[in-house]
Amino acid sequence: MEIRVAKTAGFCFGVNRAVELTYGLLAEGHRVATLGPLIHNPQAVEDMQRKGAQVVDTVQDVPAGYEVVIRSHGVPRSVYDELTVRGIRYHDATCPFVQKIQRIAAEAEKAGAVLLVAGDKTHPEVQGIVGHTRGEVFVFADLAELKAWKGPSDPQKPLFAVAQTTFQVTKWQESSEFLKKAYTNARIFDTICNATWARQQEAEDLSQKCDIIVVIGGHHSSNTQKLVQVAAKHTRAVTVETASELRPEWFADVKVAGVTAGASTPSSIIEEVLNSMSAEINDSMSFEEMLNASEE
Ligand code: F3S
Repeated sequence: MEIRVAKTAGFCFGVNRAVELTYGLLAEGHRVATLGPLIHNPQAVEDMQRKGAQVVDTVQDVPAGYEVVIRSHGVPRSVYDELTVRGIRYHDATCPFVQKIQRIAAEAEKAGAVLLVAGDKTHPEVQGIVGHTRGEVFVFADLAELKAWKGPSDPQKPLFAVAQTTFQVTKWQESSEFLKKAYTNARIFDTICNATWARQQEAEDLSQKCDIIVVIGGHHSSNTQKLVQVAAKHTRAVTVETASELRPEWFADVKVAGVTAGASTPSSIIEEVLNSMSAEINDSMSFEEMLNASEE
């Protein structure tokens, strides 16, 4: 069996920045609390906790003397206000691509516009974006939900449309096509981040050449789930959080297996999965050899 590894697998720029910032603070002896798990990867979060980081749900839960790291998903404006009021020092690791959407949300408020957000309304990134406008907001998960929307409370109101950075590319394309026709005054901002485009494109290409795609990532990671959906259009797609979840029977009749990973998957876990797969079926090919083979 041949194993092909996606070049885009693993940490994206924004996650890498947040993780490095946190490890850097811990190494300097700062007492650090993160608002929610820093990334959607339990193994990486446990490692940070072992090094002293605390995970808290709200600003009220931040222990005295701790500094806060705002994760790459970002937070609503009210959280910054609360941190300031309570005098808690914070380090903002909101990804610049997410900050851009938050600025668009604030602009929408100034313009008296309705903010349309393509995304998952329960996802912290979306909740953060929505929390940067006090104006009217509609969040939709797909074209069907957008079509079912009754429109703005006042038909004269301008519309600003954005997408969660990890939204599925094809779903965004069909939603923005619909918006252009149904609401000719809509301002549409293509805010899916490049890392997401590249990962989904590569997963799509790879899935057409493989008998199975293994997507490595946290079970709660939005971008990991999107990669599974994209790959599953063309082949069998399975997801694992760690090497221990691999099942040998998945590879019984497989000639070519593809491997990709979500934006919050550390390279150590990718390496572990590849080593297990290679030990299971490939005997001797190392992680580096697999990566080199994929690049040829
Ligand atoms: Fe930022 Fe895109 Fe990663 S928005 S956190 S670079 S998936």
